Amino acid sequence: MEKNTFVDNNEKTWSGRFNEPVSHLVARYTASVSFDKRLAEYDIQGSRAHAQMLATQGIISQADLAAIEQGLNQIQEEIRHGNFVWHQELEDVHLNIEKRLTALVGDAGKRLHTARSRNDQIATDVRLYVRDSIDEIIRLIKAMQTALIDFAAQHTETVMPGFTHLQVAQPVSFGHHLMAYFEMLKRDIERLADCRKRVNKSPLGAAALAGTSYSIDRAMVAQKLDFDGICENSLDAVSDRDFIIEFNACAALFMTHLSRLSEELILWMSPSYNFIVLADRFCTGSSIMPQKKNPDVPELVRGKTGRVNGHLVALLTLMKAQPLAYNKDNQEDKEPLFDTVDTLIDTLRIYTDMLAGIQVNHESMRNAALHGYATATDLADYLTKKGLPFRDAHEVVAKTVQFAEQKGCDVSKLDLSELQKFSQLIDEDIFTVLTLEGSMKSRNHPGGTAPSQVSAAIKQARKWLSQ
Ligand code: ARG
Repeated sequence: MEKNTFVDNNEKTWSGRFNEPVSHLVARYTASVSFDKRLAEYDIQGSRAHAQMLATQGIISQADLAAIEQGLNQIQEEIRHGNFVWHQELEDVHLNIEKRLTALVGDAGKRLHTARSRNDQIATDVRLYVRDSIDEIIRLIKAMQTALIDFAAQHTETVMPGFTHLQVAQPVSFGHHLMAYFEMLKRDIERLADCRKRVNKSPLGAAALAGTSYSIDRAMVAQKLDFDGICENSLDAVSDRDFIIEFNACAALFMTHLSRLSEELILWMSPSYNFIVLADRFCTGSSIMPQKKNPDVPELVRGKTGRVNGHLVALLTLMKAQPLAYNKDNQEDKEPLFDTVDTLIDTLRIYTDMLAGIQVNHESMRNAALHGYATATDLADYLTKKGLPFRDAHEVVAKTVQFAEQKGCDVSKLDLSELQKFSQLIDEDIFTVLTLEGSMKSRNHPGGTAPSQVSAAIKQARKWLSQ
């Protein structure tokens, strides 16, 4: 148990008007440095840009700017080398750095906070962090897409049963199935890129909430930090975290997509399907059942989707009904955000590697398609093309399938005379139609599963990736 002891008030930057020290428990409860120190690089970037602007505007002297820059450089080195000493009593990343800067360069360090507040400072740090994270995640999704395309390219002609309701529906190219995920990931990238536009605005200059009485140049600061512009309203600039929520929503959708692929990998790897084998390094064994090889990595990706979705709900709930402007509630946005970013980055790295090591069992895939009456629709289409209205053809095929089912074989294994009992329109040429490959090849239009269309889709995808 923590003892009810008190923090030395003189340590606090804002302690001037306080008559009573805070307890260690309250200090720990309110401090964020244990996690927001992760923003240090961005905090320093923001401080440099702010100080340069202050000097250009004549708000601080060139000598002060030089001292601040030199101090910040040293602090950056200390942090990078792990020599920087973080103090919980100094609450957060901002006050830790400012205190050290003042220790290093004296009064110049104390002038850095002119025309600034921790409220616009943290909003800036987080925006820079989210921007970098989006760039990194997009890069990693593209690498995963490349792995998917390479995999699909090996399997344009590989037949698998396509499912609806998890029941065998129609034969599809395995490459086509994989390319469906390429499309989902493409939309994920587009969403992230669009979100980035709203992230990339500078809150600096909003100060605590109302702006500042100094003659600052907000555009200059924005430009130095590679922002596309400024947040137009100071109250909004310090208080809203919608850009984090939006980012996390993109992340949740992305993980949801991966959870679907993971579920499929898990099913396909189960002995009942036996479609694929995952490389051993992504699986574990059972401590009791020696025969087991468990697909741990896809299972964990499926599980971690829950945690990213949970962070989205946490962030929405954190923002709900907050009055303007800044409230300390917002400090609670960091841990979910960081965890979402870490989860996506780790997941993407592992997944890309895992995809490259999947072995495909062509025979099992083909057999599964053969045993599910997957070409029944092709028989109906055949009859329709010979003049039978589609609904009637549907009925004929239903009866044919029922017959084959009783006989315990596929429709393609019935002989011509048996087939003709159901319709006189059926001829010798039906057998090419009833093959899995014939069925697949016949769906020959953009977006269809014909191997030539899958190759075309792959070509287009590679082009999209290279631009
Ligand atoms: N640590 C705070 C956060 O994460 C930033 C400081 C906010 N300003 C304040 N006066 N407490 O949001």
